Amino acid sequence: MNRKVFIERTTIGISSLLVSPSLFAKKKAILQKPYPNATPFAIATWNVQKATTTAGQALDQGMNALDAAVQGVAVEEANLLNSTVGKGGAPDRDGNVSLDACVMDSNGNCGAVLAVENITHVAALAKEVMEKTPHVILAGEGARKFAISQGYQAEDLLTEESKKAWQKWLEEGHYQPEINVENHDTIGMLCVDKEGALSGACTTSGLAYKMKGRVGDSPIIGSGLFVDNSVGAAVATGLGEEVIKTVGSFLIVELMRQGKSPQEACEEAIQRILEKQKTKPDFQVAYLATNKNGVLGAYSIHSGFTYTIYKNNKCQNINVKSIF
Ligand code: GLY
Repeated sequence: MNRKVFIERTTIGISSLLVSPSLFAKKKAILQKPYPNATPFAIATWNVQKATTTAGQALDQGMNALDAAVQGVAVEEANLLNSTVGKGGAPDRDGNVSLDACVMDSNGNCGAVLAVENITHVAALAKEVMEKTPHVILAGEGARKFAISQGYQAEDLLTEESKKAWQKWLEEGHYQPEINVENHDTIGMLCVDKEGALSGACTTSGLAYKMKGRVGDSPIIGSGLFVDNSVGAAVATGLGEEVIKTVGSFLIVELMRQGKSPQEACEEAIQRILEKQKTKPDFQVAYLATNKNGVLGAYSIHSGFTYTIYKNNKCQNINVKSIF
């Protein structure tokens, strides 16, 4: 066999291996149904019972996990009283509300939008990026234009309340973004559907009075959210800069893959952040995770973090253990 024929045959061999339908079929089956006959449930960071119940009831009615998570977080995106998510979220220091979100499904598909203005339902928009574009991330004006092209309505996201709070901050805040243990209430939601598929959505207005263009962990796949249907999933809330430095949600899923329980994995991920601190942190980070069997874990730096779970027609808000 001469060299050319050898290379051609080898190339054909490799490419047929890469696209072998039987290999694909096998892989898909493993990814899609790791634990069939699952009891559907929805979990979310913070006390968001209406949002979690919306997702949980949709799952009970047979909705897939990704759609349920997007529908669940949409409740908080539209909640004008929630100053950390969607419409009514705190603006940047110049008064512009810009939102971040991402989604990830049971097959590892994901989509994200960063620093989007004038669009309320950014988790749904992230799903559109995932499903309707060849990309994973759209940012800023590009994301806004894509939203409009998909029929989303441009809205002023600065409410009277959030404007008043921003104006008060302008008087007292020294034009410095507000970093404290309280102001990060990102909604991260994880859902398991009747097929046993696990998916998630994460949505936020980010750090209150941030610099224009600042993006936190929430839309960064692996930081604010990560899903691996054969292992589990995790979501983060809190100071995004610190979550990004340790790729928190990916870390938790990988620790679970290595055999840690969801609780142990969340605790280790918080420890990784603390190892880098010289003094007691003046910021909050919290994680919420599930493994593929529906065993949950959650942990935070400071007390006060809670999560909500809807399962078997029951919605509960749970206090989470913390270091301080
Ligand atoms: N975790 C939200 C943010 O830092 O933007």
